[in-house]
Amino acid sequence: MTLVLNKEDREERKKQLVQALALSDFSKVYKEADEIQRNHKQDIISIRAILEFSNYCKRQCIYCGLNCKNTKVVRYRMEPAEIIKESLKAKDAGYETIVLQSGEDLYYTAEMLGHIVKEVKKCGIVITLSCGERSFEEYAYLRSCGADRYLLKHETADPALYEYLHPCGTLEERTNCLRNLKKLGYETGSGFMIGLPNQTHETIAEDLLLLEDIGCDMAGIGPFISHPDTPLKHAENGSTEMTKRAVALARILLPNANLPATTSLGVIDNDEKNNLFSCGANVIMRKITPDTYKKYYEIYPSQLGQTDILKERRELETLISNLGKIPK
Ligand code: 5AD
Repeated sequence: MTLVLNKEDREERKKQLVQALALSDFSKVYKEADEIQRNHKQDIISIRAILEFSNYCKRQCIYCGLNCKNTKVVRYRMEPAEIIKESLKAKDAGYETIVLQSGEDLYYTAEMLGHIVKEVKKCGIVITLSCGERSFEEYAYLRSCGADRYLLKHETADPALYEYLHPCGTLEERTNCLRNLKKLGYETGSGFMIGLPNQTHETIAEDLLLLEDIGCDMAGIGPFISHPDTPLKHAENGSTEMTKRAVALARILLPNANLPATTSLGVIDNDEKNNLFSCGANVIMRKITPDTYKKYYEIYPSQLGQTDILKERRELETLISNLGKIPK
C-alpha cells in the first residue's frame, strides 16, 4: 500500500492526512517517505551550520524561552564583525550553507544585516536568514544583498491557536510574510510545532496543507518542548512519533522540499530503522554559536556540548554514513 493523496480535492486530501496521522501502524508511510527522499534527494543528508547571533526578541510567544517577558534570560548580541568572523569559520569547516538566526531584534537594521550578508557571501556560502517578520522592502533589500533563503515558521495553521500563542501577531501577518518571501525569490521555509495545547490531527493536516499552499521549499517540523520560564511551563511536550509522522507526510506532499530533522527532535538515534532520517528528513543543523553565547539561546531546554565546529561536523558525517546515508 502506498499513500496516494488526492491531488484535486483539498478537503479529501485533508481527510487522508488525518487518517494517516492516526494509523496504528505507520511503517508503510515511513517507507514511502524514505523512498521519496532517496529518489528526490539521493539519500543525501545536508548538514547546515546555524549561528544564533542575538537572543533579544520583541515578541511574547508564550511557548518560547526567548520571549521578551522572560526576565531570567541573559541577553546578548553579536556585533556584525563577530558574526562575519564566526560565519567564515563554518565555510572553512566544510559547510555549504549557514543559517543566521536571531530573535526578532530591531537593533539590526536591514542595512546592518545586508552588510553581514554581503561580507559572508564573499566566501561562496549559501545564506539562510531567520530573523523574524520584516517588511516587504526589507526582505527585498536583503535578497538584493545576496540572502538565498529565509526561515519563518508559521508555528500553527489554526488562526485562534496562533493568536493565543502569539499575543503580538496574527497568522495572516505571518503567512503574508511567507508569501512575500516566496514572491521575492527566496527559498522559503516554514514549519510548525507538534503537541501544542489543543492541537488535533485536523490542525496538523492543516499545517501540512499550508506548507503546500505557500509552496514551501523548506519545512521545519519539531515537537513542542515546554520551557520552565514561559506561560506554557506546565504544558506537556509534543510526541516524537507524531513529529516523525508529520515529517513523513510533508515529504510525500512536498517531494523536493528540504526537511530538517529539527534539533528539538533530539540526538540521532543510532538505530538503522528508528533513526530520524528514515522518515523523509534530509537536513540537519549544527549550532556553531560561540560557547559564551550558546547557553543563553534557550528557546526550549536542551543539553548543549561545547562548540567545536570542525570536530562536530566530522562526527555528524560519520554518524550519517553509518546510517547508510550520504553526508554533504
Ligand atoms: N518548543 C519547541 N520549539 C520551539 N520553538 C520555539 N519555542 C519552542 C518550544 N518551546 C521553535 C519555533 C521557532 C523556532 C526558532 O523554535 O518553531 O520557530
